[in-house]
Formats: sequence, C-alpha cells, structure tokens
Amino acid sequence: MALWAGRFEAAMDQALYELSESFSFDRALYHYDLAGSAAHVRGLAHAGLLTEDERDELLGVLEAIEREFDAGAFVTETGDEDVHMAIERRAIEIAGSLGARLHTGRSRNDQVATTLRLFTRDALARVGEGVLDLAEALVGLADRHPEARLPGYTHLQRAQAVLLSHHLGAHCFALVRDAQRLGDARERLDVSPLGAGALAGSSLPLDPAYTAGLLGFASPFANSMDAVSDRDFVAESLFAIALTGVHLSRLGEELVLWTSSEFGFARLGDAFTTGSSMLPQKKNSDVAELARGKAGRLVGNLTGLLVTLKGLPLSYNRDLQEDKEPLFDSVRQVLLVLRALAGAYGSLVFDEGRAAAAADDELLVAIDLAEALVREGVPFREAHERLGRLVGEAVRRGERLGDLVSEDPVLARHRALFEPGAALANRTSPGGAGPAPAPAQRARLAGELAAARARLGL
Ligand code: ARG
Repeated sequence: MALWAGRFEAAMDQALYELSESFSFDRALYHYDLAGSAAHVRGLAHAGLLTEDERDELLGVLEAIEREFDAGAFVTETGDEDVHMAIERRAIEIAGSLGARLHTGRSRNDQVATTLRLFTRDALARVGEGVLDLAEALVGLADRHPEARLPGYTHLQRAQAVLLSHHLGAHCFALVRDAQRLGDARERLDVSPLGAGALAGSSLPLDPAYTAGLLGFASPFANSMDAVSDRDFVAESLFAIALTGVHLSRLGEELVLWTSSEFGFARLGDAFTTGSSMLPQKKNSDVAELARGKAGRLVGNLTGLLVTLKGLPLSYNRDLQEDKEPLFDSVRQVLLVLRALAGAYGSLVFDEGRAAAAADDELLVAIDLAEALVREGVPFREAHERLGRLVGEAVRRGERLGDLVSEDPVLARHRALFEPGAALANRTSPGGAGPAPAPAQRARLAGELAAARARLGL
C-alpha cells in the first residue's frame, strides 16, 4: 500500500501504477531529494518540531539511504511511486515513528520542485562547462593555425577571404552567449520552493528562508502557489540547451562540409571518424552528423514540455511529472555532443593550403578593388558597377579577373591585391576578418570566456 493509502479501500490498479510511477527515471534525483530532505529535517528542528537528537538521528538515516543508493543497493518495493515516496518509505522502515515525522509540513509538491531545481542548478553548470570547453577547443584549433585563411561564405557561395581564427571566433562568441543564457536560467531558478507545502504553506512554524539558506538558494519562494506550480525554469533550461544544440548543429554541418572530398579543408583524427560496413575506403564524420541530428531532439524536448505546460490550471497538476524525462534527456544528449565535438576539434587537421587556394579565388578580390576606387573618390555604386562588369567579362570570356585588371588603365595599379592574402590583410576595420583587428577580438573573447566560466561558478 502507498504511504498515502489512508483514505483508500482498494490498492492501486497495476495499469495506473505503471502509468503514474516515475521512480524508474526520477531515481536519478536521489542525491538532490536527500539534500532537500536533510534541509527539511534541520528546518523542522529549527521550528521546534524535532528535538536535536531526533534531527541528528533522521539526518543519519538519510545519509544511510544515500549510501544505499550510491552503492546500487537501494531495494525498490512495489508501490514506490517516485523517488520521494521511496526514500520516505525507507526512512520509516529504518527509523519507525521518527521516520514518520520526516514529511511534517511538507508535500511532494514543494519537495519535487525543490529537488528538480537543485538538479537543474548543477546540470546547467555542467552543460555550461561543456559549452565553454568546446569554445576553448575551437580557440585551440585557431591557435594551431594563426595565419590560415579560407573563404567566408554567404548563401554558401564564396564571398570574401577570412582568417580561420575569425571564422572560428564567430562560433566561439555564439557559444559564449549560450553559456551566458545557461547562467541566466541558472540564476533565475535559484529560488527555494521548500515550505510551500501542497500549495498554500502550512500552519506549522516553518521558516522557508532558513532551509533556502541551507540549500544554498539565493532566496526562498515569495508565493507558495507559484513555487509548486511553475516549471518555467525547466522550459528556460530546455530552451538554452536547444539553442546550444542549434549552434552545435551548425558546427556539425560545417564539419561535414569541411571534411568532404569536395571541400577538403579539414581531416578529423581516426579516433573521431567511423568506417563503413561495406565500403572499405570510407571515413565518415558521424560525430558531426550526430551533432547536427541531435538538435532536432533537443528542440523536441523543449516543444514537448511547453505543450505540457500550456493551459494547466494553478497549482500542482500531475502533468508536471512530464517535466523530468525531457530535461534529463536534453542534459545527457547535449553533454554527449559537447564532449565528442570538443574531442573532434582537438583532433582536427586543417589543410591550410587547400583552404588558402579557395580563399585566393580571384573573384573574391572584386570588393577590395571596388573599395580601392572608393578611396580614390569614386562613388561606391559606380565602383560596384565597374567591377561587376569586369567580373562578368572575365567569366564570359573564361579569363582571369587579374589579367583583365592588369589591362585596365585605372585598376592596374591595384594589381597587388591579387597577391595571396593581400586583400585579407587590408581588411582592417574593427571586428573584421583580417589580421589587424584579430588581437582585440581575441582579447575580448578571452575575457568573455572567463566571465562566463565565473558566472557558472566554474
Ligand atoms: N512524482 C511527482 C512529480 O514528479 C511528485 C509529485 C506528486 N505530487 C502529487 N500530488 N501527486 O511531479
């Protein structure tokens, strides 16, 4: 019989038990539930509802239960509906009527919200750490090739040459924002629901601020109904993870392109590639494809939870139990991708020659020639038109743009822009892709990476 069976005359139907049990997945929360329970026990003593001896004995029982879980020795009983009931049931088994005092002034509604906030607070720090480690791996790749250049693309058409460090920096700044968003969600969820009870608080002299302090929460809840009913912190966390996943999918897609025979800009180390069961020559970038593919699942987890939350009346509803699996799944999956991608970038060999050959595509110099004319006083639209014509002519005649420029009385003096890397070196505007603005950008990135780490308590 369940711990709440007092008012019932029949045991729960097996079909309902199987539908409603969550112990099969929420046992992952045992550490956080026990931490919340320990704070609650101290709170009960603080309120004069337990003596100091009773408090210490109950804390010892909770520690013993934690050791059972840690050792994989916690024995499940039929009727253990969720991790909270299982732990309380075990406390009563061990400590008898003292165990029966554990749930005083508490409901599973404030208990589960407290437990899940504690879990999420840690999980977001771990995900943030993974995000920042990946950014460091990209910085490492840039540092291995400080002068490498490649075409920058728009519409996946070659647009202008850029430094590899600049290109990777674009990903890094996005990852820094992901880490900031994870930190942001983490700061907002840092509120303790413990003491809210089922929905309305208690007639017992509980002190939510006291237990909030014990659990390291920034503050206790202000409104008991809000405390037990909202899972916006889970939705925000899933969003921060989903958007991280979208950024990871963009990196994955790029790796797929870079490591293709057609681009050939990069090779992944053998430890980060997979073979084909049939084609002996194949070396596939599955790590990149999975990084791209997992994003769908992360977005799905966010979408699923939002739909679950939509239209729920105040305050706690059992629908809320559906918050855990998407959260656990997203945390686990994004951590898998982050770790594998960081390793993959660590193993990556960038083919500087092949990428430079693409970056030195003569047509990419057209804008630099137009800007040279602008510096000489020509209105930009006229310069654009002039270069556009010249490019069109080169393409039509199958000639090199450089040769046509050499024959042009005005443009010929800018012929040096076709020297490898020359146009890129000219790109001096702040935040631009050339070597001149690179150190400032690098310094700013380092500062933001360090600040994001500190914010997550890493
Ligand atoms: N396992 C439940 C959950 O995850 C705990 C809360 C149950 N509360 C209740 N009133 N039935 O939401």
